[in-house]
Amino acid sequence: MSAAKISVAKKAMNHIEKKLSKNMILGIGTGSTVNFFIEELGKFKNYFKGAVSSSDASTILLEKKGIEVFSLNDVDEIAYYIDGADEVSPENFLIKGGGGAHTKEKIVASAANEFICIVDQSKMVQRLGAFPLPIEVIPESRSLVARKIVSMGGKPVYRSGFITDQGNQILDLENIDISNPKELEIILNNIPGVVENGIFASDKPEIVLVSE
Ligand code: A5P
Repeated sequence: MSAAKISVAKKAMNHIEKKLSKNMILGIGTGSTVNFFIEELGKFKNYFKGAVSSSDASTILLEKKGIEVFSLNDVDEIAYYIDGADEVSPENFLIKGGGGAHTKEKIVASAANEFICIVDQSKMVQRLGAFPLPIEVIPESRSLVARKIVSMGGKPVYRSGFITDQGNQILDLENIDISNPKELEIILNNIPGVVENGIFASDKPEIVLVSE
């Protein structure tokens, strides 16, 4: 599994390597695949300006590699956003948030000119939904959101003991019908108390790189 993640991390580096420039800011996702990408990126730290990170965990790794991390508020443009995924559909729709970082991941992805998703073969699915769909909720609204999800036919499971970088909680939804990802992404985000759900349909990647 690590070999596959390393190989796709290198593929992504090959994809952007020649396009790096001194003033360029990159967006960096979160997760074990991206950790290997950060490893590669460290070798090129003098060829771009810095990064906007999607999580505290990635920020620590980037800074360890000597890559400057900027707030999204302080940058005008993000050339590429590189991130993994938990599931990828044939249309490049994603489920993300297995690591609970999908809210900032979606923000940074939406700010980038090009979203490059890096996955191994196991993430490629015909239809989204075998992986439980993460939803970040304001702690006070967790039960309310859970009841609404149940009324929609879903089974929300509280990710016990987990707090997001924003201080919120996660419900992982099982049994939810994701046949229309674009519509469900909007419906879920319209429930009061939901911060962000892990469907990436509006902000799907332009490119999906898959390890052999
Ligand atoms: C983090 O919240 C997630 O969205 C990750 O991007 C996703 O879980 C992929 O992680 P791995 O690369 O560890 O499989």
